[in-house]
Amino acid sequence: MKNKEKVLQILYQKNGECVSSSEIIAELGITRSAIFKIISELKKQGFDIESIHHKGYRLSDTNDIISPEIINSIIKKYGKNKKIQYLESVDSTNTFAKKALMDNAFCPEIIIANTQNNGRGRMGRSFYSPENTGIYCSFILDPFIKIENSILVTVAASVAVSKAIEKVTQKDTQIKWINDIYIDHRKVCGILTEAVTDFETGMIGKIILGIGINFSTPYSLFPKEISETATSIFADDNSGITRNHLIAQLIIEIDECMNNIENEEIIKYYRKKSMVLGKTLEISYFGKEAPIYGKAVDIDSNGFLIIETNNGLLTLNSGEVSIRQNEEE
Ligand code: BTN
Repeated sequence: MKNKEKVLQILYQKNGECVSSSEIIAELGITRSAIFKIISELKKQGFDIESIHHKGYRLSDTNDIISPEIINSIIKKYGKNKKIQYLESVDSTNTFAKKALMDNAFCPEIIIANTQNNGRGRMGRSFYSPENTGIYCSFILDPFIKIENSILVTVAASVAVSKAIEKVTQKDTQIKWINDIYIDHRKVCGILTEAVTDFETGMIGKIILGIGINFSTPYSLFPKEISETATSIFADDNSGITRNHLIAQLIIEIDECMNNIENEEIIKYYRKKSMVLGKTLEISYFGKEAPIYGKAVDIDSNGFLIIETNNGLLTLNSGEVSIRQNEEE
């Protein structure tokens, strides 16, 4: 870790209290002028650091700048430390992750960006990723499961995101099959899982789990196409909770869910939070065929959606469902 990152970590660990230059010198063995230079750089980066005469420096605890050092400081309490690569701007964190996987020299475990200019969604859609107000991240995972079970990764990821949002924000979430997270009937998060297969074993080598969360995006910023259906966690209330806090919790929950991917508790939680069970749905298969209508009656232990149609039961393991308008409440 570079000195700048170490200074940031020291300031963060003080929970908004003042740190003197002497404390930093004692810990890092650097000069006063080096500290001054580092603090100036951090301020330029946007960190809200107060210089208090004769006392030292204070980092405001409501800074909302994504920082791997702060995230690692938070997850340290759980005995964790992750290789996080932070990018101010990128085309897509999932695309970046794929390239990083091919480059054996250094491969982070998590890639996070402040904005994406080509954020990708499911089914070839784009994902709106404005700067400073969202969380756009990709986890490179090693779940070592069979391709036919890969849907469980998506299920586990939805459960992890739902739990992380609820624990950090106390807001209630719902999961729309297969992996969209909703708050108050509007989409707040989308998940895009992409598998990199090991053809020799027939197993999934790596999974790139891309998560996009609208964190504090104001309604006025959403493009017209999604303005009626999207929301963000803190669209109109500033809670003082930062993106670093939510990302840290996300890391904890993802580790927990992926390590217990076949545990029945995950699917139970997923069913409990489902917003489609019991509803009449319109099902489209990648836009190829005319939609089918049916009632969602169950989600089986594989994460497949069971639909009752006029022609009998239908088991869905992919595709897109939408809830009939008059049934949304
Ligand atoms: C969807 O809603 O269809 C899925 C959206 C997934 C968006 C995330 S943002 C981080 C990662 N990088 C991408 O390009 N996409 C995913």
